[in-house]
Amino acid sequence: MNKVIGTGVNRKDGLAKVTGTATYAAEHQIPGLVHGYLITATIANGQIKSIDTSAAEKTSGVIAVFTHKNSPKIFKPSNNFVTSKIYEARLPLSDNKVHYGGQIIGLVVADTFEQARDAAHLVKVEYTVQKPLVDAKKATYQEAPPAFGEEFKFEQGNIAGFASASAKIEASYKTSTELHTPMEPHAIIAHWPDNDSVTIYEPSQWVMGTGRTYAELFGLPSERVRVVTPFLGGAFGCKAFPWPHGILAVAVARQIKRPLKVVLSRRQMTANSGHRSETEQILRLGATADGKLIVIDHEAKSATSPVDEFTEPCTGITPVMYAVPNMRLQQELAVLNVGTPTFMRAPGENPGMWALESAMDELAWQLKLDPVELRLKNETKEHQRKNLPFSAKHFADCLRVGAEQFGWQDRPKQVRSLTRDGKLIGWGMAAATFPGMRGRATVKARLLPDGTAHILTSGNDMGTGAYTVVAATAAEVLGLPVERVKVELGDSLLPDGGLAGGSQMTASLVPAVMSACTQVLNNAQAKTATEALANLRQSGRAAFEATASSAPGDEAKKWAFQSWGAHFCEVSIDEEIGRLQVTRWVSVMDIGKVINAKTAASQVRGGVIMGIGQALMEECHFDPNIGYPVVYDLATYHYPAHADIPRIQVTFVGEPDINFNPGGARGVGEVGITGVSSAIANAIYHATGKRIRDLPITPDKLL
Ligand code: MOS
Repeated sequence: MNKVIGTGVNRKDGLAKVTGTATYAAEHQIPGLVHGYLITATIANGQIKSIDTSAAEKTSGVIAVFTHKNSPKIFKPSNNFVTSKIYEARLPLSDNKVHYGGQIIGLVVADTFEQARDAAHLVKVEYTVQKPLVDAKKATYQEAPPAFGEEFKFEQGNIAGFASASAKIEASYKTSTELHTPMEPHAIIAHWPDNDSVTIYEPSQWVMGTGRTYAELFGLPSERVRVVTPFLGGAFGCKAFPWPHGILAVAVARQIKRPLKVVLSRRQMTANSGHRSETEQILRLGATADGKLIVIDHEAKSATSPVDEFTEPCTGITPVMYAVPNMRLQQELAVLNVGTPTFMRAPGENPGMWALESAMDELAWQLKLDPVELRLKNETKEHQRKNLPFSAKHFADCLRVGAEQFGWQDRPKQVRSLTRDGKLIGWGMAAATFPGMRGRATVKARLLPDGTAHILTSGNDMGTGAYTVVAATAAEVLGLPVERVKVELGDSLLPDGGLAGGSQMTASLVPAVMSACTQVLNNAQAKTATEALANLRQSGRAAFEATASSAPGDEAKKWAFQSWGAHFCEVSIDEEIGRLQVTRWVSVMDIGKVINAKTAASQVRGGVIMGIGQALMEECHFDPNIGYPVVYDLATYHYPAHADIPRIQVTFVGEPDINFNPGGARGVGEVGITGVSSAIANAIYHATGKRIRDLPITPDKLL
């Protein structure tokens, strides 16, 4: 059998993407298509007193203008993760209230995009204005409500021992509001061929769940809703469920009986389609003189919108990382007049690891211990909240291999002791972690007489490499060259492949692909593709095919599943001008079985790059008057360019996690970003002796 799994397979969708033949949501050509442009609130708190659409309606090309006064019919969905889910519980245009700047208050429909946009600016809105609250520092925080059926609050042992601990760190760590900024903006085309069925082209990380949700929103059986997303131009969590603009577009298209396209501007996207809340975390670490943790006290604060509840779950990583007999976790939430925050690459794990891995570095300096040693000394064999052993955990290997590759043993033990070309040089490291998740998935496999195999499932590739991972798995099981495997994804008419989120698409799809392909060979009464093809041609049948499902069993009752990693980096700092460059990066990851070495390493690199952006650049402030983020486009939301990024060396260690699933893969989409910002801040401390606990670390903070 040819070995495909674990090798570096080129992206199946790469050529289509770089040659422009991959069709994204807004590019689908539908005859008779009309265009919508959103009207968004220019206040952050209050009511619409009057809204005058008459001038807009008289403009050439305008078909209709919708506001809360003539809002189309939308049903409330059940809004839970099992059946359906919308990001923002308030339905668009449901009343005259304005809860945040940039909230959708209307939609203009016209023959062309330009006509709709022009007319939108002619709509006159008068507001009753209340003072908005957009400053997290002035907010009132309360205990965060439970999420996913679990309280945030957790306590084990007694944290009182902190007062008398030999070594103590107590500090506050902050992160900025961050925006997902996928390359492909939010966009939707809704096409109702009749009043009882609809096809929706929308960038979605979960076509099947999104289809069910639209079905509930419009009172249809789910088989009457088709969601099509063959390609996404990035998502990072902001494209898993419908947002208000999508719901409104589908509703309006039904009412006007025309296919309708709505594309959000970059400016609109900053306000009404998700962000990561800013966070503040207070961490107290207490340890013995030889570096054994005895207390971790972790308090986290984040903010949500007035129209939905989302807590950035920073404390989830705390019981996972280090063994500690006494631990307390608390999360608080405030309501701001800003749009609804949501999942963004490693939601919770990312800011949580920023705080914990910075504090661990501070503790190492205080104890004069190597930070790698400190982590090895405190490794935990079990998840201290689930009280379950970790399956196939190789965190220590990540630390050791990373240290060796980086040359960590040569690290000067004093701050400000390394220089190069007149610049300060610093070395830093931090750990990485993200849970292993997996969902039910169904896959259809077909072997055709022309010697190709087709694999079909609704699961999505948001740029992560799902097409390639599915093809590689099928090629290996069937014994075909990977070039002869064709994969179709991202259409809710296909068998339910589950959600591309929580780094779970690979762990969900791979076992189902293995099972479907094995069944194809069984149906062919063959051990190899060659035999199967001979039998197929002889039989005169059109194909051998099989549909198989794979789902988690009760393994999560016996094991805790978690991916691990370690980052090592070097920074170079010109103190005179506060200029920092990341000059070297080594990441070592334990993700269980690596299905495709090339796309897996690419996921880690993407995570590191996004983490460098968070550490050094990404920042979003809300205008205190209009409540809109002071971000206008991709030029005013600063994130890394190629020139900011060094070569990122990625290595995988570990073993297949077969307790988790028969493919042994644990997922790699999010683990790479965790710990990145702390590795950089730790390197900055080594270079300068300056401990910075407030992200992003912009040049002014280095002066
Ligand atoms: Mo991810 S934040 O679960 O798309």
